[in-house]
Amino acid sequence: MRQTTKLTDVTIFTGYSYIGSCSEFVWIPGDKIGDRQMPSRFIFRNLKCEYDVEALMIRKDLYLRSTDGKEYIVSDFQITDINDADNVSGVAKNFDLLFEKFPEMKTITVGEKVIVSKKTQVVAFKAVSNMIHAVRAGHGIDVQQAQEVSEKLVEEVLQAPDAIMNLMDIKSFDDYTFTHNINVATICLLIGQALNLSREDMNDLGSGGLLHDVGKLKIPLSILNKDGKLTDQEFAEMKSHPAYGYEILAKSRGISERARMIALQHHEKFQGGGYPKRLKGQEISLFARICAVADVYDALTTDRPYRVAMSPYEAMKILNAGIDSHFDPKVLTAFIRKFSLYPAGSLVSLNDGSYALVLKNNPSSVIRPVIKIVMDSSGRRIKERVEINLLEYKDLFIKGPADPAALNITANSR
Ligand SMILES: [Fe+2]
Repeated sequence: MRQTTKLTDVTIFTGYSYIGSCSEFVWIPGDKIGDRQMPSRFIFRNLKCEYDVEALMIRKDLYLRSTDGKEYIVSDFQITDINDADNVSGVAKNFDLLFEKFPEMKTITVGEKVIVSKKTQVVAFKAVSNMIHAVRAGHGIDVQQAQEVSEKLVEEVLQAPDAIMNLMDIKSFDDYTFTHNINVATICLLIGQALNLSREDMNDLGSGGLLHDVGKLKIPLSILNKDGKLTDQEFAEMKSHPAYGYEILAKSRGISERARMIALQHHEKFQGGGYPKRLKGQEISLFARICAVADVYDALTTDRPYRVAMSPYEAMKILNAGIDSHFDPKVLTAFIRKFSLYPAGSLVSLNDGSYALVLKNNPSSVIRPVIKIVMDSSGRRIKERVEINLLEYKDLFIKGPADPAALNITANSR
């Protein structure tokens, strides 16, 4: 029997956002029976969630902070019982101390600006989940619900200060099937905002973004979730999803034609060669050109069964390679201008051989944030907290993102 761990008065975060607290967290490692590893279990006692326990359930990892300031990660977790708020239990893959050697690496701050509030994300999550069940059951979709969610998203995006958006803020949920639609809608709206679209445009863009892949619900799950490469026939079937989506939306009154066109045209490529119609340039609606960028970006930065997620920086490089060919340059430029390449909390390498932690972004230059050196060029760890605003040090610049593992900083450094 392995050692049970107990933490008291625990604060719970998902990613960078505060989500709630519990009076006690108990971790019970799984036993090995023969060569079978039993799952590890955990219990939250007196769990208090800021919004809704569902906001917690659809995460992949949780971050916990105990009263002594130590931070832990519970990875790949699943809540299995929420009937009793005094004893919420679940299973998880790992429970580890988080970045023990470099505590500032992922120190979680409460109240960081997020684009879309947890509350709206949960409402959006429920709407998408209803939509998926309705279409699978052969019913029409509740267009009004999609529009309400879109309006909420528009409201929050428009209210967010005109600062650079942190790409990581968007990725608050990890479950692809449910959240890809919400992420795409949000990214579409941020691009829409950068392009100064009107409120009415934004509402249509948001609902179209939310429903862009609705046609996939008609594709058999065996193809949709296939682990390996699709056969030619399966791929052809997969490519029917834009037309299926348009068909579903054409039957739904109350949704604008512009939103429907997003479903039909989001896989068209700017220089032609996309599907279903191999349209080119302005033949593709502006909203669909926006959705193409959002869709590819979100797919690249999310873990998929066949590929691990890329960092925002790597994904940006891939998108940039498709400027002119796959994407509308005007739309992609707006997207790049809007987002930060090096989100706060990320580790970067500098041209003088040192490593730094990004503290905050400078709205006037996405490549020159405020940083803190954590390791100098001779490999010496820097403990003093000295902030450097890269806008003021023109000789110093970021070479690229750095992998914490390369500096011997790991999440499992117990
Ligand atoms: Fe699609």
